[in-house]
Amino acid sequence: MSLLITNIAELTSQDPERRVLQDAAIVVENGRFAWIGAAHRAPAADVVHDAGGRAALPGWVDSHTHLVFAGDRSAEFQARMAGESYAAGGIAVTMEATRAADDDELTRLVRGRVAEAADGGTTYLETKTGYGLSVDQERRHARIASAVADHVTYLGAHLVPPGADAEEYTELVCTEMLTAVRPYVHSADVFCERGAFSEDQSRRVLAACRDAGLGLRVHGNQLGPGPGARLAVEFGAASVDHVNYLEPDDVAALAGSWSGWDSASATGAPGVVATCLPACDLSTRQPLAPGRELLDAGVEIALASNCNPGTSYTTSMAFCVGTAVLQMGLSVQEAVRAATFGGALALGVQDTVGSIEVGKRADVQLLNAPSAAHLAYRPGMPLTQAVFREGERVDS
Ligand code: NIG
Repeated sequence: MSLLITNIAELTSQDPERRVLQDAAIVVENGRFAWIGAAHRAPAADVVHDAGGRAALPGWVDSHTHLVFAGDRSAEFQARMAGESYAAGGIAVTMEATRAADDDELTRLVRGRVAEAADGGTTYLETKTGYGLSVDQERRHARIASAVADHVTYLGAHLVPPGADAEEYTELVCTEMLTAVRPYVHSADVFCERGAFSEDQSRRVLAACRDAGLGLRVHGNQLGPGPGARLAVEFGAASVDHVNYLEPDDVAALAGSWSGWDSASATGAPGVVATCLPACDLSTRQPLAPGRELLDAGVEIALASNCNPGTSYTTSMAFCVGTAVLQMGLSVQEAVRAATFGGALALGVQDTVGSIEVGKRADVQLLNAPSAAHLAYRPGMPLTQAVFREGERVDS
């Protein structure tokens, strides 16, 4: 069964020669893009979808979320808006609530968030463990996540749970807990930050998870300068996420990791993606991550929602894209690329998803607008009109 999506006013593709096409059409066959070009040249197909002069973009690739949680932390949020600063300790509040939710309840909550993300245009989604913080709970959360997310990240090293010894807990993360979650996860992460895991502890977690064959990522430089970005480069991690407080040496180290990559043609050996999380930065009143500076230095960046109950309770990638344009100095095309192809790079799936290219998975969204610029021009508006994943409608 083939599908023709035609009458597209503006199509954002990855083709270096023609990034944006006007009056375009797409043909999908067997869940993949089979043809992309001018609408008046489109071949026939079994089914025709008239885009009605709307813009078409790749589905969002949300490469950083924490969806496996129960409970409510709106009081913490309100205290923050009244002047309190964010502290990692709030993670323990969610740990308690999430441990108390049974499998059915937790699955219902996670599925609801994934469906909400899909309605907003997200077609490929990463999520993490990290609110279990015991062997049995981390295994349970990884299992539940693996049933609904495209990519699951092990974040046993999110917080040392209250009452535990930091060294003993780090050892557990590197051994028994890692073995327990291993069947369900694709990569591992560590919250390398004052109040969470030290440089030495982070190094041990990254080494153990690398040796277990997992891809790596790092929560780094979120609340102050620190070793996270440099550790990510040293370990060849796929991404370092947050990156609010980068020193010139950090930017140089990240840029160095991209020396074998050609950004225009998107070919070569990828380096460490810097994942910017603008919704989190606003909700925690941190300085926005320096996306403009990173791009100018030659670092590939991703934009992600960081949906979680503590610092960023939103699945809206459109909000992140709009904020990146309005507040971080990115052009619309740069922001859309970071929220699609950048996320795919951060998850190591850039050959399969993240752009509208022949042969890739047919993940595409239509906006109730004639161009992607409306994502920033009309901030906060629910612009996603239709979402296709592997050529099938997934929005409700
Ligand atoms: O990415 N930084 C660490 N983890 C989450 C926050 C988790 C929480 O506060 O519940 C984040 O912002």
